[in-house]
Amino acid sequence: MFPSALPAVSVSGVNIPSIGYGTMLFPEPEKAVTLISEAIKSGYRHIDTARKYGSEQWVGEALRSTDIGRENIWITTKVTEENAKADDFERSVEKSLETMQLNYVDLLLIHWPQPKVPLSETIGALIKAKRHGLAKNIGISNFTVELIHKAAQISSEQLFTNQVEYHPYINQDKVIQTCRNYGISVTCHVPLARGVVLKDPEIIKIAQIHQKSPAQVTLKWLIQQENIIAVPRALSIEQIKENIDLADFSLSNEQMGRISRLRSRNLRVVDPEVRRPIWDLP
Ligand SMILES: NC(=O)c1ccc[n+]([C@@H]2O[C@H](COP(=O)([O-])OP(=O)(O)OC[C@H]3O[C@@H](n4cnc5c(N)ncnc54)[C@H](OP(=O)(O)O)[C@@H]3O)[C@@H](O)[C@H]2O)c1
Repeated sequence: MFPSALPAVSVSGVNIPSIGYGTMLFPEPEKAVTLISEAIKSGYRHIDTARKYGSEQWVGEALRSTDIGRENIWITTKVTEENAKADDFERSVEKSLETMQLNYVDLLLIHWPQPKVPLSETIGALIKAKRHGLAKNIGISNFTVELIHKAAQISSEQLFTNQVEYHPYINQDKVIQTCRNYGISVTCHVPLARGVVLKDPEIIKIAQIHQKSPAQVTLKWLIQQENIIAVPRALSIEQIKENIDLADFSLSNEQMGRISRLRSRNLRVVDPEVRRPIWDLP
């Protein structure tokens, strides 16, 4: 299942491909289906979408255009914080499946915490979606240490992942360690910091040593860490291919450490005023 040259991340015996294709923001929507299809042709077996992105329809179309079986492609979608109440949550999941023309997703996430709705209500709706077979696995996104503790304590089902911003310019040690303590994987959104880290001289130097691109070195630095998954987005076929071509090199411990030290730049790219929780201090 999910054949890939890259090692999978395993949570409770369920494997997820460590690199997925991100589908947020397609500036030219008419090209979206082609790009997602190209990603699948290039070997991606994991697609990351969300109700909020408006890309579910294109993901569904791309899936229908490939002869790779549904069971071989991992699909993650998310329910927005506007739909955190149980009834709205249920409707959102149904709408996602209807839009993609799917019977189930592999992973369903609470996209952002919603302080105005009891977390127990939203987690209850998440679990219900799993029990009804609409989601094979469930998880959270943009949850801080305090919220991870709450979610893990409330949930009677294993939480599969916490999707958070993680790249070389941000320290997420506390969130990652808390997730590990609960057996939850970490999926990195904006893994390339929307391109910012690709201009870093240290990353460029390491890339030259391996004859790889800065994007490949950044993604390798992420997935070489325990239980880390990354979902980069790219809009050119060349970069789509590049971002999954990571199997033929490894970073040394010294190189991993050099990249980890770049976190002193302390950059948070995704920080929407209306949605952000009180982030953990490094
Ligand atoms: N859970 C959440 O709240 C949340 C929030 C944000 C994002 N996400 C997920 O994370 C995914 C990735 O985030 P993102 O798309 O915002 O940022 P990203 O993956 O960090 O960066 C994408 C940027 O990097 C560039 N890029 C990609 N591959 C490259 C390569 N090989 N060489 C040079 N440049 C390259 C892209 O350029 P081009 O534009 O030219 O292709 C784009 O500007 C999203 O698509 C979404 O699925 C989730």
